[in-house]
Amino acid sequence: MSSPRRNLLGLEGVSAQEITDILDTAESLKEISSRPIKKVPTLRGKTVVHFFYEPSTRTKTSFELAAKRLSADTVSLSASTSSLTKGETLIDTALNLQAMAPDLIIMRHSMSGAPHLLARHIPCSIINAGDGTHEHPTQGLLDMLTIRQVKGRLDGLKVSIIGDISHSRVARSNIIGLNTMGADVSVFGPNTLLPPFVESLGVQVAGSMEEAIVDADVVMMLRVQQERLDDVLFPSLREYAQRFGLGVKHLKKAKPEVTVMHPGPINRGVEMSPEVADGPWSVILDQVANGVAVRMALLYLLIGPESS
Ligand code: CP
Repeated sequence: MSSPRRNLLGLEGVSAQEITDILDTAESLKEISSRPIKKVPTLRGKTVVHFFYEPSTRTKTSFELAAKRLSADTVSLSASTSSLTKGETLIDTALNLQAMAPDLIIMRHSMSGAPHLLARHIPCSIINAGDGTHEHPTQGLLDMLTIRQVKGRLDGLKVSIIGDISHSRVARSNIIGLNTMGADVSVFGPNTLLPPFVESLGVQVAGSMEEAIVDADVVMMLRVQQERLDDVLFPSLREYAQRFGLGVKHLKKAKPEVTVMHPGPINRGVEMSPEVADGPWSVILDQVANGVAVRMALLYLLIGPESS
């Protein structure tokens, strides 16, 4: 990155040069994960705390692997096993963690802005691993790395993001990051799951599944986030799958080289059919592999030897 950055709280305000530096660093660190001994001493003596208030498979595991592959010491804390269950506040928890001198706290929380609150109260580096419906910046970065690997560029690509745009921090980080990198982003989903004034995010709104897919270089399907749906915003999962799920029939009308993505976890048969998820268009497991590389890059850039 061009200037030292202490935190990664979102992709809002991260420049194209910084994104390029992160993706280039991830490319250079990726081969460590294919070595017989997957470890380098770069972050020896550094301490990373993983503080996850919400469930996670991909983000938590890949951050832990990234830290271990760079030889950092790691500690994991979850909401259910921490003293939050005894009524301790988030800020008190953070101040107590800070007293143990970590170098970096990686935080996932159901409240939008929680990592920003931490960053205002404690001096160690913070990475947002997903905050409510706000941002999931490392997912946006790993998605951009995956697209860049497949298509060779981000600038000028047509990327369609389909599904629950309102509740998706993945959509938000991708929209911000892809716009910064010069891609042309459109969205499609149930009207009840599109945020008001969605165009103000710098996207076009497609009128149908066909319109969303036919010209796209990349189709990014989003998870239906049932845990964030307080009201009934569509009649049933069956109807959602029929109207907004991606099937092979849709991809037959798409560009032959179209790439299909999903951040996971997939609701198979809802957001996409198993044939699509496992088919030749899909780069879903490449996204997961790139998650380790991008998170290694961020640890290196934020707390590595060249960070201070
Ligand atoms: N994509 C993503 O954030 O997955 P997890 O919830 O499993 O971390």
